Amino acid sequence: MTPNDQQVVPIARARGPRDTLGRPLHDLRISVMDRCNFRCPYCMPRDTFHDSYRFMKSAERLSHEEIVRLARLFVSLGVQKIRITGGEPLLRANLADLVGDLTALPGEPDIALTTNGVLLAKYASELKASGLARVTVSLDSLDPEIFRHLCGGFDELATVLDGIGHAQRAGLTPLKINTVIQRGVNDAGALDLAARFRGTGIVVRFIEYMDVGNRNQWQPGLVVPSAELHARIHARWPLAPLDRNYVGEVAQRYAYADGQGEIGFISSISQPFCGDCSRARLSSDGVLYTCLFATHGLDLRAPLRAGADDEELLAMIRGRWTARVDRYSELRATLRASAAQEPKIEMNYIGG
Ligand code: GTP
Ligand code: 5AD
Ligand code: SF4
Ligand code: SF4
Repeated sequence: MTPNDQQVVPIARARGPRDTLGRPLHDLRISVMDRCNFRCPYCMPRDTFHDSYRFMKSAERLSHEEIVRLARLFVSLGVQKIRITGGEPLLRANLADLVGDLTALPGEPDIALTTNGVLLAKYASELKASGLARVTVSLDSLDPEIFRHLCGGFDELATVLDGIGHAQRAGLTPLKINTVIQRGVNDAGALDLAARFRGTGIVVRFIEYMDVGNRNQWQPGLVVPSAELHARIHARWPLAPLDRNYVGEVAQRYAYADGQGEIGFISSISQPFCGDCSRARLSSDGVLYTCLFATHGLDLRAPLRAGADDEELLAMIRGRWTARVDRYSELRATLRASAAQEPKIEMNYIGG
């Protein structure tokens, strides 16, 4: 990195690109690993992601240096928050080193990580030392049997709870828990999750089940609207709305009126939030997607490996963002009804 890079960032940020709906580019989600050590039926069902499923080869994934270089360019265009995702990001070798280099980028972007928690016992301290600010752990149930079903039988609830404990003790906070709620599967356990983490400083966020990818047999009947869940929780522990932390935050936040902390709802189905969506996604093999439900992306790896300079790469990213029209969640019903709907990108490839 040259001293020049450091001077350029604030100027470029002021001129950061806006898409066709006037939305800036503020968040970058980088999938660093397409593999996962879970097989959640709604994300990587076992019958598709079986032993002989062809995951990427190492050489197909962006290298450490390639990720850092692209991240630096995104930051120069206005990205302030980088979320590291997967598959399961902690399956990537030397992830803490990558975190360290991302933390050191000019502009010091906020760096967060979304994980299933299994490997946190092993890596939480190392990640904290490398500069990671906070983690979000996916946890769908506190019932050991339901948990086992929802991770595809690949691990135990106790492992994830232990991982959460390690992350909290390491100071990877505010720690958040993402819970995808499906009617008739784990919705009856929502209050247990709220009860378990009230008063711990950990923020549970209930996510409406979404039609991401093409393999999860999503049906509208499986979605529990956040309003319904809110009513159930509010009846037990009164909730008061909180202001959002930043423009474009996906979760609607509430405080427990008795002072026992915070809870959130992510309502992409019942209350789409495309209007403020400032998120770009980079797949493990270097394809840029401008929506979680995208069908096509822009390959940045090929030009990167063919020797493109920073200006060329910046022009490509800027061009893609300024042409962006995505608002899938707002158009869901129409788009799903369209016979011309092409296959969407899979969740393990793009990281939620
Ligand atoms: P904070 O920085 O903690 O506010 O979190 P975040 O918004 O980056 O959270 P996280 O990555 O944990 O996102 C939570 C979940 O919200 C994801 O796993 C997705 O299920 C959903 N989500 C996040 N971004 C989008 C989005 O752009 N569109 C849709 N439809 N869902 C999203
Ligand atoms: N609907 C909503 N959220 C999902 N996630 C994965 N698949 C879905 C889906 N179909 C969430 C996971 C994790 C994050 C990466 O995305 O629970 O928290
Ligand atoms: Fe489950 Fe996350 Fe792995 Fe998908 S990437 S199978 S949601 S743990
Ligand atoms: Fe953004 Fe697409 Fe999600 Fe809408 S559906 S909030 S445009 S990622």
